[in-house]
Amino acid sequence: MDFSAVILAAGKGTRMKSDLPKVAHTVAGRPILQHVIDAIRGAGSSDIVLVLGFGREIIMETLPKTYPLKVAIQEQQLGTGHALMQAENQLSPEGTILVTNGDTPLLRSETLAELLKFHWASGAEATVMTAILDNPQGYGRVIRTRGGFFDRIVEEKDASSEEKQIREVNSGTYCFQTKSVFQALRDLKNDNAQHEYYLPDVLKILRRWRKPIAVYAADSAQDEVKGVNDHIQQAEAEHILRQRKNRQLMTEGVTIVDPETTYIDAQVTVERDTKILPGTFLTGNTSIGKNCLIGPYSCIADSEIADGCVIRQSWLQNVQLDAGADVGPFANLRNHTELGKNVRVGSFVEVKKSHIGDDTQVPHLSYVGDAQIGRRVNIGAGTVTCNYDGQLKHETIIADDAFIGSNTNLIAPIRVGAGAKTGAGSTLTEDVPDGALAVERAEAQLRLKNNK
Ligand code: UD1
Ligand code: CA
Repeated sequence: MDFSAVILAAGKGTRMKSDLPKVAHTVAGRPILQHVIDAIRGAGSSDIVLVLGFGREIIMETLPKTYPLKVAIQEQQLGTGHALMQAENQLSPEGTILVTNGDTPLLRSETLAELLKFHWASGAEATVMTAILDNPQGYGRVIRTRGGFFDRIVEEKDASSEEKQIREVNSGTYCFQTKSVFQALRDLKNDNAQHEYYLPDVLKILRRWRKPIAVYAADSAQDEVKGVNDHIQQAEAEHILRQRKNRQLMTEGVTIVDPETTYIDAQVTVERDTKILPGTFLTGNTSIGKNCLIGPYSCIADSEIADGCVIRQSWLQNVQLDAGADVGPFANLRNHTELGKNVRVGSFVEVKKSHIGDDTQVPHLSYVGDAQIGRRVNIGAGTVTCNYDGQLKHETIIADDAFIGSNTNLIAPIRVGAGAKTGAGSTLTEDVPDGALAVERAEAQLRLKNNK
């Protein structure tokens, strides 16, 4: 069945003590709000209205532009009920809406789909998702009648000390029949401790109108209802999302030696029989192939790593490795660098915006920037592509089978031909033809002792 969704995200998130709107803060590498949007899309709706207010331009900038999102503006944050009212003219009055807070990044698509199924099966006018929490502090509490039916929700700030003992909380996620919820919203009052128009109060109104209300107790989803209101809850959400991601990868055949110290963003993919050692961060749009060995202590961001690569104690950002590449320890690869098959980039090597061909080695202590290096090239220790003249960057080309002696300075722009060799310690300013040997060497001044 079809449904539309409304995500309430106009609040500032005062408890974050931040200039950034709360839902633009990230957990597991994505804005909090994007997790909620993705969960709803996964549950089967692409008709999503965001209610935005504080920092709305910043929020829109953080979201992907790849799918359509409707936006309703709440100029003044007068409460969650008032926020939902702003979405009315973006929705068709018929059918069902799923309404959720923008600060619950742990919600899973499966749980939302279950909630909707339950709502439709129950025939209720409104269904609220609840959970029993060990520490319900800060949440709206669910008050039930003596018979155990739903009565109302009372916010923490309005709750008596007795009501505060209740551990069943409002998740902030609801299903409504669109027409009746907007009717009920017109009756909403703000006569409460915070002088806000509380969305949960529409349930009270609908009940007064004798409309059936259902409660979906998400017993197995306690974690999912947790909202992020401050940086402590942000870290808790982060921890739960990371655990979830690591478990998913482990069930798919990835070895994670220590999940507690392995940090993998939600959208990263890793294929089977890859082993990830402790202290590893895989972030952004990163994909890792089969049979790789990653870590310990490596950060790989926005990179594509093919099968059978080894990356030890290294930093890679925006890099593409072909099969069998071997990197590190202590390598820094960045900015559109591509390594061909079986390339070896060893310790204390920095490679920037360069292409290195199959079977080439840069085993130690080199800087390779703005370079096109062919196949089967050997780059000796201490080689530097001198790519920057203080104003412009220039390109270095090293053709197939060249041999660059240790401590060669290649003053770009320069080309070293196929099969050419450079002598150790040379500083070269001119192109070296194919097959040539280029040596630049000052004569040593030999002085004997006592003989000036
Ligand atoms: C809300 C619920 C509470 C529930 C909890 C679950 C209300 C009154 N209370 O409390 O019962 O247990 O969520 O996490 O709904 N927002 C707006 N406009 C506003 C106010 C809020 O868009 O005027 C948005 C916020 O940006 C946020 C969401 O609504 O994403 C929830 O607001 P928040 O202030 O975090 O509500 P809670 O106090 O957590
Ligand atoms: Ca909240």
